[in-house]
This record gives sequence, structure tokens and C-alpha cells, in this order.
Amino acid sequence: MLKVIELFAGVGAQAEALKQAGIEHEVVAISEIDKYAIQTYRKLHGWVTNLGDIKAIKELPQADLWTYSFPCTDISISGQMKGFDKNSNTGSSLLWEVQRLLEKAKENGNLPRFLLMENVKNIVSKRFLPLFTTWIDYLSSLGYKSFYKVLNARDFNVPQNRERCFMISILNYDGVFNFPETTGLKVTLQELLEKEVDEKYFLSDRFIKYACDMENRNGFIRGKRFRPHDGESKVAYTITTNPGGRATDNFVMLPAVGAIRGRPNGNGGYTQKLHVKDEPIVNTITTVQKDNVILVPQATKAGYAAAEVGDGIYTNRMKYKRGVVQKSMIPTLKTSCSDIGVVVTDKDELINIRRLTPRECWRLMGWDDERIDVAFSSGSSETQLYKMAGNSIVVNVLKRIFESMKFFDL
Ligand SMILES: C[S@@+](CC[C@H](N)C(=O)[O-])C[C@H]1O[C@@H](n2cnc3c(N)ncnc32)[C@H](O)[C@@H]1O
Repeated sequence: MLKVIELFAGVGAQAEALKQAGIEHEVVAISEIDKYAIQTYRKLHGWVTNLGDIKAIKELPQADLWTYSFPCTDISISGQMKGFDKNSNTGSSLLWEVQRLLEKAKENGNLPRFLLMENVKNIVSKRFLPLFTTWIDYLSSLGYKSFYKVLNARDFNVPQNRERCFMISILNYDGVFNFPETTGLKVTLQELLEKEVDEKYFLSDRFIKYACDMENRNGFIRGKRFRPHDGESKVAYTITTNPGGRATDNFVMLPAVGAIRGRPNGNGGYTQKLHVKDEPIVNTITTVQKDNVILVPQATKAGYAAAEVGDGIYTNRMKYKRGVVQKSMIPTLKTSCSDIGVVVTDKDELINIRRLTPRECWRLMGWDDERIDVAFSSGSSETQLYKMAGNSIVVNVLKRIFESMKFFDL
């Protein structure tokens, strides 16, 4: 039975992948400091000894495999790139705590046979490769032969563009290790989206305005980087720990429910008619020619209300209701969201845009709904659930790596 220690365990993508790869194993200990990740880990994988802060661990129990997906914040291009120099006190420099524990294991004569590292692709960039090579050389001085490769989740049937560097180090070994062949992408992003989501995931007008801002600020044009996915998108961008906060994050565009279109009225002119699709979707957006007023039926003496661009309207059973048109009110309307629309100028704006839900982020990290239900039963907040997903490793990729390791008679 393979004895495993997960350093920087997070929610245990490692343990999950070992299970899925059908490798008999026992997690003898983990090291993790985030209380929500620990709670979730234990929900998913059962009770396990947590040794806590890696800095405070004196030595590790005997094990065959250590995994160490140490914090990437100071290596990632989306962070400040402070690096992971020894004694630099950055989150990423916790790598050198692994060195300290390996030294101790060497002293005790119980170096693990395998080490598995995961970090961002940038660790093998021109800037960080020299230090990474120092690390590999150190491992080699202990007797490890290391093999690393950048793998992308999208090549392992998960529609997320997530490139990560994986490294396997094997003790007293002079053969080769082949990383798994890619499996291709059969699942699309659309297939992983929830059919109905809460109103709160939809972007406010304010955020859309912010994200679409085309002002050129020293070459930076935010609006150009705001690229919500549409029905054609096959792959999500990398899931981050705080998705939906930046214009560059994953957003999905959905077709809107209704449209108000000019239709020829037979007298050479046009009449505008509201067309509402059958199935309700949040935040209906309707369209009207700029500067035009549309007449919306409602239960008043006049029988209609005038709506202009920017006005919110109720689209459900309008002729039985009053107050159907809300002047410039859409962001503040607090009601069942499936029957609200806003009048816009262009039919290309017939879309709704929303962030990904925590469940979608977890799906995009390779978890199925049954396991997600277990993870979410730990009662963590959405902020925490997003963070855990963004920090983790795509299970499918790890599973394939572990399958390749079966070659070693685990
Ligand atoms: C990149 S994540 C790894 C996630 C993990 N691979 C998973 O499957 O979810 C890094 C983890 O290291 C943890 N961490 C940060 N500082 C730590 C420390 N001093 N000791 C132990 N864990 C730490 C973080 O809380 C975070 O969960």
C-alpha cells in the first residue's frame, strides 16, 4: 500500500486522483493551514492527521510519496513575481521547507521513493528556470532523478486552459519516466454550465461598463481583455482563486429571453413588437432602435407604458400588471429575476453575462457533482469554495500522471 503525505494539501486533489487511478494508498499525514480547506479535505477524504504549518513540522512520518504543490502566488505571472528565493519569506519560498524536511528524512534514512511537484508554468520561464534548476540539482544530490513537463488541463478532457508544471522525482533510479499521453477534449465548456443559476451571478450594469471600458491607459485597454465565452467557446480560461473580479476572468454570455424588434406594419412603416422566448432566463435584455420609445402593454387605462433605452421592464404577463416599466432601474430591481428585461439599442446586445458559479469552477477542476456535493457540505462560503478550486489541481491530469506511475509497481 502506497503511503502518501500531501504537503500544501488543499482539498486533496492528490488523494482524489489516487482514488480515481485505482491506486491502493493511505494518506498518513497532510500539511495545510487553511481551515476551510482542511474541513473540506476531511469531508471528502475522511479524517486525516494534519501536521499544520509546514514551517513548524520537525520531521515527517515514513511515506513512499510526498506531494508538494507549494503556493504559486510569487511565481505566477498574475501575481507580483517576487520569486521563491530561499529566505525571501515569500509564500512560494515555502519550497525550501520541503528541502529542510528532506534533509531530516535523509538523516532518518527514510527519504520517500517518489516526490510529486505541481506549480504554475512560469516556474520554467527564463526568469525562474535557474532557481528551479538549483532545486532539481539539490534533489539529484539526494539521489533523485527528476522529470518535469508542462501539461494543460484542456488536453485531458477538461475544458479549462490551465497549464501547470508537474515534476516527478524518483529515488535511486536511472531509467526514464514518460508523462501520460494527452486524451483530447470531448467535453465542452457549455456542457459544464449550470442550467439555472441565481441572479447574483449576473453582472451588474456597473461592472459591465467597467469591464467594457475602451479607454487607452498607457496601452492598457480593459475592454479588449473582457472576453466572455459564448456558445462557440470550447475552453474556459484558467480558474483563479477569486473568479469574476477582473475583466479577464471567465464570464459566460447567454442569449437573452426577449427582443423587441421593428416589424413591417404593412403601411410602409414599422411596428415594434416584443418577442419573448419560451424559457425564462435571468435579466432579459430587449432591443430597440436608438432614441425610440417602445410601447409595452400594461394594466392601466392607457393600456401601455413607454420604455426607453436603459429602462427595465417586466416581461411576464405584462398586460395584467401595472408599473411594468421601471425607469433606469434594472440594477436595483429586487424581484424574481426571470421576468426582468432591460431595453438596449442593438440586437448584438441581446445577451446576459454572468460569472461562473462555485460548482462550475469545481467541475472545471475535474470534480463530478456527487463529490462536489460532499465538498460543499462542509459549509464553506462561496468565497472559500472559489479559492479552493482556484488553488487546486485538475483531478483528471493528476489521475493520468498517477496511472503512468503504475509502471513502478506502486
Ligand atoms: C497551490 S495550493 C495547493 C492545493 C492542493 N494541491 C489541492 O489539491 O487543493 C497551496 C496550499 O498551501 C497552503 N499553505 C500555504 N502556506 C502553508 C504553510 N505554511 N503550511 C502548510 N500549507 C500551507 C495553502 O493554504 C494552499 O491550500
